[in-house]
Amino acid sequence: MYGDPIKVLVTGANGQIGRAFVQQAKLEENFDVVAYDHKHLDVSDAAVVGARLADELPHYVVNCSGFNSVDSAEANSSLAMSVNADGAGNLARACAELSIPLLHISTDYIFDGHYDSGYTETDEPAPLGVFGRSKLQGEINLRTQQPRHIILRVSWLFSETGRNYLTRVLEQAREHKVLKAVDDRRGCPTSSMDVARVLIAVLKQLECGSEAWGTYHYSGAEITTRYAFTEAIIAAASQYEELAVRKIKPIPSTEESGAERPSSAVLKCTQILNTFGIRQRPWRVDLQRLIREIYGEDGSKVIQPTVETRAEALGS
Ligand SMILES: NC(=O)c1ccc[n+]([C@@H]2O[C@H](COP(=O)([O-])OP(=O)(O)OC[C@H]3O[C@@H](n4cnc5c(N)ncnc54)[C@H](OP(=O)(O)O)[C@@H]3O)[C@@H](O)[C@H]2O)c1
Repeated sequence: MYGDPIKVLVTGANGQIGRAFVQQAKLEENFDVVAYDHKHLDVSDAAVVGARLADELPHYVVNCSGFNSVDSAEANSSLAMSVNADGAGNLARACAELSIPLLHISTDYIFDGHYDSGYTETDEPAPLGVFGRSKLQGEINLRTQQPRHIILRVSWLFSETGRNYLTRVLEQAREHKVLKAVDDRRGCPTSSMDVARVLIAVLKQLECGSEAWGTYHYSGAEITTRYAFTEAIIAAASQYEELAVRKIKPIPSTEESGAERPSSAVLKCTQILNTFGIRQRPWRVDLQRLIREIYGEDGSKVIQPTVETRAEALGS
């Protein structure tokens, strides 16, 4: 029924999006997924990137790597730049030389967040800090070097694994009676599995001949605040576990420590709908599903496995 499988090389395969993408793409009949984690493919090393891609010769590369700690990027700007900016550039150069389209993930942090009505793909970037600047430079490097790219900007990512807002809230809700949550920052939470679904849908259309290269916004549906997202997480988890938390206290973002963050992270997602027919999925549905996965069918917590990398698949 199908022709040759579509070989997709994934970088940063053990991150939130990397794992979700590898897990979902492996369920696709016609995908051959080759997963590389940081240890086996450091995107900041141009020589390694060139050699690995030339060895593998995938049909597509999906870059899920990233230095994503917004706060520590301020003190580690050269590391953030080397992964987010140089890494994207290295992949783009190697992909262009080998004629491989590149799919890459970017972020709302390239905007200053002062615009409340939602950012479109053509709005002017104005990052507030090192993290946003490094991601913006990554986009620029990528566009300059490999025109056959898709840059997918996503916001407020959450998943069942790793350090993200959902896992941090659950950790704190188990320890503290009162949780503080910012109520003047708006955005659309987006689950990593939803981003994986979008990447797969885009890949399928590229494979069918779409040439709609460029930059797209995607996020879960329904604008919320950090405070309301925290409430939703606690309500969902409380169905499975007796949490210590009794009160969620709304605070202004001025009371928060760390790097400055965009006050509005709302991304308009009409371009991806008009081009690829991809609709925003409600983040509340994914939240319920992820909470169910965290606790398992019988309510006991489940440890999420890491993905099998290329090196492990080859037994090395
Ligand atoms: N998290 C968010 O809220 C958010 C929002 C919007 C966009 N994004 C973007 O989405 C993408 C994926 O984010 P995520 O949340 O899935 O990230 P994540 O969970 O932090 O995973 C990133 C992965 O990249 C790996 N990595 C770090 N440096 C690397 C390098 N030099 N070479 C290869 N791999 C490297 C990390 O491995 P180690 O841990 O072993 O270093 C980690 O497994 C990133 O581009 C990120 O900027 C994230």
